[in-house]
Amino acid sequence: MRAVKLKEINENKGIEKSRILITCAKGIAPFLKEEVLQMGFPVLSETIAGVGTEGTLDDTLRLNLLLRTGHRVLFLLREFAARDADALYQAVLEIAWEEYIAEDGYVCVTSSVDNPSIRDSRYANVKCKDGIVDRIKEKCGRRPDSGPDQDKVVVNLYWKNDGCSVYLDTSGEPLSRRGYRKIPLTAPMQETLAAAVVRATGWNGSSHFINPMCGSGTLAIEAALAGLNRPSGLLRDNYGFMHFRGFKQSLWNDLRAQTKKEAKKSLGCRIIATDIRTEAVEAAKKNAATAGVEHLIEFAVCDYSGTPIPDVEGPDRGGIVILNPEYGERMGKIKELEGVYKGVGDYLKQKCKGYRGYIFTGNPDLAKKVGLKARRRVQFFSGAIECRLLEYELYEGSRKDKNTEAP
Ligand SMILES: C[S@@+](CC[C@H](N)C(=O)[O-])C[C@H]1O[C@@H](n2cnc3c(N)ncnc32)[C@H](O)[C@@H]1O
Repeated sequence: MRAVKLKEINENKGIEKSRILITCAKGIAPFLKEEVLQMGFPVLSETIAGVGTEGTLDDTLRLNLLLRTGHRVLFLLREFAARDADALYQAVLEIAWEEYIAEDGYVCVTSSVDNPSIRDSRYANVKCKDGIVDRIKEKCGRRPDSGPDQDKVVVNLYWKNDGCSVYLDTSGEPLSRRGYRKIPLTAPMQETLAAAVVRATGWNGSSHFINPMCGSGTLAIEAALAGLNRPSGLLRDNYGFMHFRGFKQSLWNDLRAQTKKEAKKSLGCRIIATDIRTEAVEAAKKNAATAGVEHLIEFAVCDYSGTPIPDVEGPDRGGIVILNPEYGERMGKIKELEGVYKGVGDYLKQKCKGYRGYIFTGNPDLAKKVGLKARRRVQFFSGAIECRLLEYELYEGSRKDKNTEAP
């Protein structure tokens, strides 16, 4: 068992600090870690899909509001050893749930279970839920409802071998659901992944951001929000913590007001997003409008090669050009895409000099068709698919030869 102040947490009286686990998609943890540190929180642990920190329940409001790359902010209530479901039930019963969940509320239990006595994790969820509602019934005379909906109180159980951790999931629905993407189209990039990709490029809102093949506009929208320093969490009106007993609405209002005050109103650069499909551009425009950044993005329907590239002087001075072409699964489609990737390479080489080029793809063979030498490759995952963000330095003039892929 890890060293948590068990007594303090068992009794739950005036619990101040606890460990906080912020989960993320595989590969995103290094970017999430940067965000956590920038917000002034310590990083106590890092795994492939999460970052551990510590703080109070109030701190989780700030984390939910400001983090762009995290998925869920989990506040540790108790850690204990449990060999089987009955031991789990007994330990859960000891947590002062009545301090967090109203007797007329609603709770959903989610879990990750790897214990030899449990064949179906749903059984662990039920035992955990029973412990919660029985405790509340004993203390308050009535039990809250329970079920699968994650839009109210969510409790997360992590159970590996004999070690159990019980968390309040302060996010409820994952933070990738920003609330702006009403029209996702096909193969959209998850919002948290797009935020991490923008972060990986190092783009900071002071140079142009060009996004041909924009699809539903996720990269351009996340860039606009980051460039303005406007939290993506402002767009959401429901979080798990809002359903906890004693939720401090005034603290939440103050945090929102503060971040709005600190956000820029405009950018000193251009964000251009284009796609060959009219319906994609229409969807991207609508999504950008919902996100409140439509006025900052110049949209156009065109082939990627027709995307306007503002004139710039010198390498990197112009900003970045980033494309997320399809990477296909069917062979016929892949043959067709080979030509697209080669064309994208020519476009970057010939039309985007002075910019930094990026391609995000899940197909390394197609990436080779680009014909440019990547100076950096960053590993990401889109669902189960391993992807790479490839960075190309697009030299101007006499340094042009350096763009060519070494044989
Ligand atoms: C993988 S999707 C991009 C998804 C996007 N990142 C998002 O989050 O929605 C690829 C996009 O490239 C567009 N596309 C395909 N061929 C194109 C071309 N020749 N010129 C411009 N856009 C193209 C498709 O219409 C599609 O929207």
